[in-house]
Amino acid sequence: MSERPYTVLSCGMSIDGYLDSASHERLQLSNAADFDRVDAERAASDAILVGAETVRSDNPRLLVRSPVRRADRVSRGRPPSPIKVTVTAQARLDPHAEFFASGDGQKLVYCAHDTAAAARERLAAVATVIDAGDPVELRTVSEDLYGRGVRRLMVEGGGAVHTQMLTAGLADELQLVVAPCFVGDSRAPRFVRDGHFPWTASRRARLVQVRQIGDVALLQYALSPRFDAGSGRPT
Ligand SMILES: NC(=O)c1ccc[n+]([C@@H]2O[C@H](COP(=O)([O-])OP(=O)(O)OC[C@H]3O[C@@H](n4cnc5c(N)ncnc54)[C@H](OP(=O)(O)O)[C@@H]3O)[C@@H](O)[C@H]2O)c1
Repeated sequence: MSERPYTVLSCGMSIDGYLDSASHERLQLSNAADFDRVDAERAASDAILVGAETVRSDNPRLLVRSPVRRADRVSRGRPPSPIKVTVTAQARLDPHAEFFASGDGQKLVYCAHDTAAAARERLAAVATVIDAGDPVELRTVSEDLYGRGVRRLMVEGGGAVHTQMLTAGLADELQLVVAPCFVGDSRAPRFVRDGHFPWTASRRARLVQVRQIGDVALLQYALSPRFDAGSGRPT
């Protein structure tokens, strides 16, 4: 098996397990202190992966916000923010989206074979489009990222991507934030979809930390033997 980056899944969800509301309005689950913690995680990563639906619905910038953290990365010969990575089958991505428009760093789009040519036509000026075969396997994506020098990968959702990373055994660590609210609408996206997950009632994930951050709870799980304090962090 080829090598892949140390991979951290980062997610905020409601008490009833939703990532967002069912409406177009983005649901604010986290708080300022937790955003800052996530910013530190970004700063410690070589790349950030999100699904194309998250690019379309949230329009995230996916940059390190703290000037101090950006300067620290630069002083160690790294770009101010991690490489941005997304995956798509439809290639329905707007080149003006913040994912592409914000930050000077590298942007990678792993695209299904059938739409790779169309994706290149639309996105070549703003990103590197990689024909990732058909179907796109996230293991292939992960291994390709390793080949591009990515040693620590942060995955920031959404549910479709988290599900595949977990069911394919590609996650080493889960940082799950539970916000003190309910969504109560099954049309809304959940943290994960249906699937065969390696962790069950009899084969449990290892809970390594529970921390209160203001009004949210951070649950940190070790999902692979690669986990230990600071594992995979750049030195
Ligand atoms: N609370 C949080 O922490 C958090 C974080 C991120 C997102 N979210 C929320 O999550 C929701 C989006 O989640 P989601 O589950 O609907 O979508 P998602 O995981 O963000 O993206 C799914 C899309 O990614 C592409 N994709 C995923 N796996 C692929 C594969 N193997 N091959 C090819 N393409 C692949 C497809 O794009 P195409 O359709 O382009 O083919 C697919 O439709 C949004 O509501 C967002 O607000 C919440």
